Amino acid sequence: MLKKIKKIIRGDKNNQPIKWSLYLRVWREIGLPYWKWLAAGIIFTVAAASAEGYAITIAKRIVDETFIAKNMDSLYIIGLQIIAVYGAKGICTFIKTLAMAKAGLLASANLQRRIYRHVVRMNISTFYGDGIGKCLNYFGVQAAAVLNLVTGTIVRLIQNVATILISLGLMVWFAPQLCILLLFLAPAIMIPTLLIMRLKRRLSRESFGIANNVSQHLNQTLHGIKTIQAFANEESETEKFNCILNSSVANSLKSTKIGALRSPLLELMISIGLCLAMIVGGLLISNDMMTLGNFVGFLLALSAAYRPVKSVTGTGDTIQHGLLAAEVLFNFLDSKPSIQDTPNAKALESEPMSVAFENVDFEYNPGEPVLRDINLDVPAGKICALVGPSGGGKTTMFNLLERFYEPQHGHVKINDTDIRKFTLESLRNNIAEVSQDVFLFNATIEENIKYGLPNATRDQVIAAARAANAHDFISKFPCGYDTCVGEGGALLSGGQKQRIAIARAILKDAPILLLDEATSALDTQSEKLIQSALKDLMRGRTTFVIAHRLSTILDADIICVIKDGRIIERGTDAELVAIGGEYKKLRDIQFKMSEKKETKKTKNTK
Ligand SMILES: Nc1ncnc2c1ncn2[C@@H]1O[C@H](COP(=O)(O)OP(=O)(O)OP(=O)(O)O)[C@@H](O)[C@H]1O
Ligand SMILES: [Mg+2]
Repeated sequence: MLKKIKKIIRGDKNNQPIKWSLYLRVWREIGLPYWKWLAAGIIFTVAAASAEGYAITIAKRIVDETFIAKNMDSLYIIGLQIIAVYGAKGICTFIKTLAMAKAGLLASANLQRRIYRHVVRMNISTFYGDGIGKCLNYFGVQAAAVLNLVTGTIVRLIQNVATILISLGLMVWFAPQLCILLLFLAPAIMIPTLLIMRLKRRLSRESFGIANNVSQHLNQTLHGIKTIQAFANEESETEKFNCILNSSVANSLKSTKIGALRSPLLELMISIGLCLAMIVGGLLISNDMMTLGNFVGFLLALSAAYRPVKSVTGTGDTIQHGLLAAEVLFNFLDSKPSIQDTPNAKALESEPMSVAFENVDFEYNPGEPVLRDINLDVPAGKICALVGPSGGGKTTMFNLLERFYEPQHGHVKINDTDIRKFTLESLRNNIAEVSQDVFLFNATIEENIKYGLPNATRDQVIAAARAANAHDFISKFPCGYDTCVGEGGALLSGGQKQRIAIARAILKDAPILLLDEATSALDTQSEKLIQSALKDLMRGRTTFVIAHRLSTILDADIICVIKDGRIIERGTDAELVAIGGEYKKLRDIQFKMSEKKETKKTKNTK
């Protein structure tokens, strides 16, 4: 037991005391820009506490100057003074509340802005795993806890400390003898308070982990609601959520249980102090060593200090909680995305661009190679098709070319220069992609098409939509191009989303074009129409096409078959057919299948 208590006081490896320099940093970075409002809040907080202290001195005067001296005339003046003091206290409290609210709101917006700016620049890989849950919590619980340090906790702390100091000053002034008596009780209050603070710190750390799990689960549920319902898994998902909530409830209960001990302990100590003060005070008055007014003033000052003392011991927990949140938040804000502009990076100029992969090896997770020794040269303006079995590494090659990830070995080059030497912004501005999983923003169709070229005119948007064979279906919507597409484009069909994504890529008009299964969700008729539009678009651009339907890539200048992260065959359609390898097998299967379909169709029509 003794060992356990010692460990709690010292803190273990996972429960190290928080560095107070962190508190300074919170103030410097979050509070300092709004120091005028915070200073006003603090000044008026102290003024309100002083007014309360002054009210106690008035009470002493009522007893000594009015009742003991039997001078009833002084009552009127004292009465007016009471009204003035409480009026002044009310005004100070009002101004303090407004000033702190303003500081809090401005600091909150500033912090959220800073987190957002950082989030949108983080490596893509940050958002996989439990990254999204964590990010949501940076904006939510953690930001709130850190802000509370600057605006909530500190004001309460200053108010309480000011009240305690004023009350202590009054107590010493009224009855110094009684104060010496109470000094002996201080350690009895401090030790249990420290123990409780340490225990609660450990629970606070755990509570952040649990909050991340809650956000992560909610995020997944909201994004995957259709899948959950389609598999009739509402109950099992609710059960999973329940488990997470149960651990959250258990953690909060533990924390509350420990915190709840503080108040009775404190009350016990104060009641002992009060009892001793009454006995000794009574003796001093009966021996004419203290006036009744002083004794009443002492008791009032003591009771005025009681609530703030209780609150200050609890403030420690809130500060610990806020500092833990600050630690997590600053760690995130200090983390540098590994993928960012290198020193002296230059802009990639818009011109015909050749693309090369040189000895590229890549793995997402250490020890699990995804691409191995990729060597590929695509001259400017040529079309390169990537085909092959699912999971082979085709999309990963696009990820490397757009520098969402970096190869562990080898180089990805544009015009013979490693893409790391170009600024990220210029690199991505020169690439238009239609990705495998089309994502549309919850905005209008026009805004979605204009996403890569925000200043495009309505005519340009319509021209791009026409080329993507999207204009007809868009025009049929009552609001046309102003139709909102819903969360992630949920109000559109898969093929419609794909056509909007193609229009977006067409409008971007970039020299490098990446098409990842860009027409996979379309019917044969629409695909044929778009294919001819895409052919026009590809002219003069360096294009990479990933396609499972080989009929769409027969004209490509280079076709690469990618299997298990390697290019196993390369050449034109005719060359690969002549080799008679993997490509020919895939081609034969697909063309036989479509031949069968054709003959079935003609039989049916007969
Ligand atoms: N973000 C990621 N983190 C870890 N592994 C990943 C990630 N993305 C893809 N992988 C893995 O890398 C391998 C290649 O994936 P990739 O998406 O490049 O395949 P693909 O050839 O495009 O497949 P498909 O034709 O099905 O789209 C797969 O085994 C996949 O599991
Ligand atoms: Mg893919």
